[in-house]
Order: sequence, then structure tokens, then C-alpha cells
Amino acid sequence: MQYNPGWNSSSVNLLHVRAVGPADTLHFIWSSIGAPAVLLVVSGSRNSTLGIDWTRLLSPAPAGAVWIDPPSSVIYSTAVVFTKVFEYSEAKTEELFYPTYDLSDFSWDSVNRTLNHTALTAEFTGIPAADPSGSFSNGSLAFRVTAYEASSRDGPLPSLLHTANSSKVEFVLAGVAPRGNSSRFVLEVATVEETGVAQKLRSTRSIDDEYTPTIFETLSLVAESRNGSSARSFLQWKATAYGSPSPRREDNIQCRSRGLQAANWTLPVSSIVRAYFGEGAGSTYTVSAINISFGGEDGKVYQEKRYLSWSVLLGFGQPPQDTFSPLVISIMAVALGTPLLMLLVGSCALLFTQGKRYSDYEPIN
Ligand SMILES: *[C@@H]1O[C@H](CO)[C@@H](O)[C@H](O)[C@H]1NC(C)=O
Ligand SMILES: *[C@@H]1O[C@H](CO)[C@@H](O)[C@H](O)[C@H]1NC(C)=O
Ligand SMILES: *[C@@H]1O[C@H](CO)[C@@H](O)[C@H](O)[C@H]1NC(C)=O
Repeated sequence: MQYNPGWNSSSVNLLHVRAVGPADTLHFIWSSIGAPAVLLVVSGSRNSTLGIDWTRLLSPAPAGAVWIDPPSSVIYSTAVVFTKVFEYSEAKTEELFYPTYDLSDFSWDSVNRTLNHTALTAEFTGIPAADPSGSFSNGSLAFRVTAYEASSRDGPLPSLLHTANSSKVEFVLAGVAPRGNSSRFVLEVATVEETGVAQKLRSTRSIDDEYTPTIFETLSLVAESRNGSSARSFLQWKATAYGSPSPRREDNIQCRSRGLQAANWTLPVSSIVRAYFGEGAGSTYTVSAINISFGGEDGKVYQEKRYLSWSVLLGFGQPPQDTFSPLVISIMAVALGTPLLMLLVGSCALLFTQGKRYSDYEPIN
């Protein structure tokens, strides 16, 4: 992890996470210059490096200011931009929208102070540059980044499964005063893909919720090459956010994704993305966007807790897939077995599990 490589100031934030594999390198470049964004560049060389022309990057025309050396080693590039936060209330039958928080108009604290080289974490915390409603006077919005060295599962909920080819970002709204009595928030996420790569939103439902109690749906936004349809990269999340910094299952906040739009947008106003992909008029990349909305039927959870956190995994290749947990496998074995087998397995399971409790999982009966 490197903070602002080659730049001796912390007035802007750029975090370079370099992951070296046996025959390739993944470069994750997180930045809050412009709207908060991450650039993922995969290089087929173990020795590839990140190049930054800082003067150009901080200028109004940053095209070409960020590149990977040697350029010929680049196999794949993508970017994710967190563009806007919408807030609305449901008044009678219509939705009442409050002025939008445009994340490219936020001012961000120095990430340097939050860097943890052991845990591989960093935090981008910001407030609107102008806050006429005073909503942020006692709160902030943050993107918490975690890089991973190996495959494993997160301890805290939603306990996402990850690989060494992925990083997690947690979107956190803390202490921000809602502008309505039952405000709900929506995060707009834009992705930038090379042409020839198509995005697909997939929902996977499972009967198993041992790792994320009461949540049965996993969503994956997968980028696939149009020819051959192999997965190039993904965003993956559980259909939940949490209303507490130390989430328990009862802190669930419903999370829905509203349509994936192949937006005929120009490149999002994010300097890091423009700096890498150039200003070209959409010829070499396509931009899509998706809205992630938080809050169930009444939207009261945020009102009470003043805290919202949503985790999403970003990675190269196939998204990780959950297998059934041992508990569910044994339940299925019992259900599918003969009555005799049922009796045997049942009594054995009873013997072995007596006195033992599965973490945070209580069967209904
Ligand atoms: C600001 O936050 C603190 C701690 O969370 C809380 O005690 C206080 O009441 C808040 N003030 C306002 C004006 O919301
Ligand atoms: C919010 O609730 C208060 C009291 O319940 C009510 O007086 C006020 O009109 C409500 N405001 C909105 C915008 O609905
Ligand atoms: C997200 O929702 C807002 C408010 O309804 C809308 O203006 C915006 O176009 C939506 N974005 C996408 C990608 O659907």
C-alpha cells in the first residue's frame, strides 16, 4: 500500500494497492480526487509499476496522467466510481427527493492518517464542501477500504467471502442528519468498462444464511467479455446494509438495487478515471450505473440509529461463491435420507452438537 506515491502533500488522496501474483500484478488505485473511485488494472507482469504525472493529474485536463508501465503488459482495466448519494422520503404516493449529494463536491480528510499497513485498511472520510442544510454538521460519509492477501471470510457481518484478487469497500453514513422524517438513501455507483466487456447483474438466492443471518440473497455485478463470456471482474454484495458499527443480525437495513443502466454517459467526473482512460468520446470504454437503495418499507432504522454501512467486494476474475455451511449440509442430509438414516444421523448430530453452539445461528425450532 502506497499513499500518494511521488507526491509530497496530503491535500489530495490517492492510495495504490499493489498485489503481486506468480505471473501478474493487480493494481487497485483508490482516490478521492473528483468523485471517490477505484481503478483496477491487471498487468501480466510481476514487475509492472504505476506511473503518475501529478502536475497533470491535478490539472483540469488530467487525461494521460495515470498509467501502468510497461503499458503493453496491461491485460484488463476497469473502474468503479461512487458518484452521488440521493435522499428521499415517501410522501403519500410520490417520492420526495431532497437536493442530491454529489460526491465530487465533497472535501475529504487525509487518508494517510487512517492507513493501517498491517490490517491493509484505509478510510476516505468526507463532508460536502457546502452543506446549507447542516446535515453533516455532526456526521460524515466514508469509504473504508480493505485489501486482502489470501482467500478467507470476513469476521464482522455481512461476513463476505473474499479472495486475494479482491478488495472490500464499506460505504458508511454516520451521524448525518436525515432531511425528512423517514428518509431513505440511495448510492449511485458507476462502472467503466472497456468496449467488448458487458455487465450483468446476477442475484443468487440460497437457503443457507449461516454466515449472514436472515439474508438469503447475494448480488453480483459481473463484467464479462462479449466473446467467450469469461468473467473479467465483479462487484459483489449481500442484499443488506447494517445500522450499527458492530453489526448484529437485528441491525439489518434492507438493500435493493435498482436497475443497471448502460448509461450513455460521458466519463464520470472523477479525475483518476479520466486520467487513466483519457477524455476520448466513449470510443474505448462504456459506462454503466446502478442505484443501491437502503431502507425498508418505513426507512426508520437510519432515523433511529444514524448509522448505515454497506459492504461490497471488488475483484478480478470470478466472484467467490459460497458453498453450503456444514450445518446446512447435515440438515439436507437428514432431510433427504431414509427414516433410518435420519434417526442415525439425527442422534449422532445430537450427540456431537450437544452443548455446542454455532456462532450467531439459532435454528427456528
Ligand atoms: C452529535 O453526535 C453526538 C454523539 O453521537 C450526540 O451526542 C449529539 O447529540 C449530536 N448532536 C447533534 C446536534 O446531532
Ligand atoms: C415530521 O414529523 C413531524 C412530527 O411527527 C411533523 O410535524 C412534520 O410535519 C413531519 N415532517 C415531514 C417533512 O413529514
Ligand atoms: C438513481 O436514482 C436517481 C434518483 O431517482 C436518478 O436521478 C438516477 O438517474 C438514478 N441512476 C441510475 C443509474 O439509475
